[in-house]
Amino acid sequence: MIRFTDVSKFYPGKIPGIVDLSVEIPDGEFVFLIGPSGSGKTTILRLLIRDLLPTSGNIVIDEYDLKKLTPKNIHLLRRKVGIVFQDFKLLMDRTVYENVAMVLEILGKPVKDIPDGVKNVLELVGLLDKKDVFPIQLSAGEMQRVSIARAIVGGPKMLLADEPTGNLDPETSWGIIDILEEINRLGTTVIVASHNADVVNRLKRRTITIEHGHVVRDEEKGHYHLTKHEKKEPKGGKHDAAH
Ligand SMILES: Nc1ncnc2c1ncn2[C@@H]1O[C@H](COP(=O)(O)OP(=O)(O)O)[C@@H](O)[C@H]1O
Ligand SMILES: [Mg+2]
Repeated sequence: MIRFTDVSKFYPGKIPGIVDLSVEIPDGEFVFLIGPSGSGKTTILRLLIRDLLPTSGNIVIDEYDLKKLTPKNIHLLRRKVGIVFQDFKLLMDRTVYENVAMVLEILGKPVKDIPDGVKNVLELVGLLDKKDVFPIQLSAGEMQRVSIARAIVGGPKMLLADEPTGNLDPETSWGIIDILEEINRLGTTVIVASHNADVVNRLKRRTITIEHGHVVRDEEKGHYHLTKHEKKEPKGGKHDAAH
């Protein structure tokens, strides 16, 4: 369970990241976090992995009050919460297999369990046949699938994805969203920051809309509405703007 209570994050210079956010996300939920560029989506995800501390307010994830985490507990929190970024963050000089395996090595998993652990997640993301290739030989969609495999191989309870389809064409994006849905179906809480109106409308999942750091809507089966701000923006051609 995730609970934000009156959380504000101001960056240096009093720049508001998010303001007075109170929201609760039960275990097992699939949630979209949507809003225009600069609305605060990434700030929320960074707060959840304790990459940032709130300026005020409280964030609780299960047994952890994020403000009170000791270094050892930060470590345990990071095991509980996996994260995927728009730009994949793969190691280019390691194979697909090695990229995923090294996560388990860092977690200190027994060496004998690593091959099966890696194979299971590569199968889930549909990349078992590419396990021995290097990232440069993969399409963008496949790279994103490797980064999802990395994020889930340690068995996190929650998976965060920051604009996971931001660099992908619509068809490839659907493949990624299918995988995120499957991971959710298997029991992981999934939170996706997205700009992709099409995906949000079709999936009809809980949708929290952020504008200027504030939650402006929180809908059970969300519909994506363009804000006035977005309507004024010139069409960029791609379905999903970079953030
Ligand atoms: N490291 C930072 N330093 C200063 N301001 C930041 C920083 N990161 C984000 N911001 C500001 O905080 C606001 C929210 O940003 P962000 O959470 O990245 O939004 P989004 O992910 O929705 O595009 C924006 O005004 C942004 O410029
Ligand atoms: Mg962002």
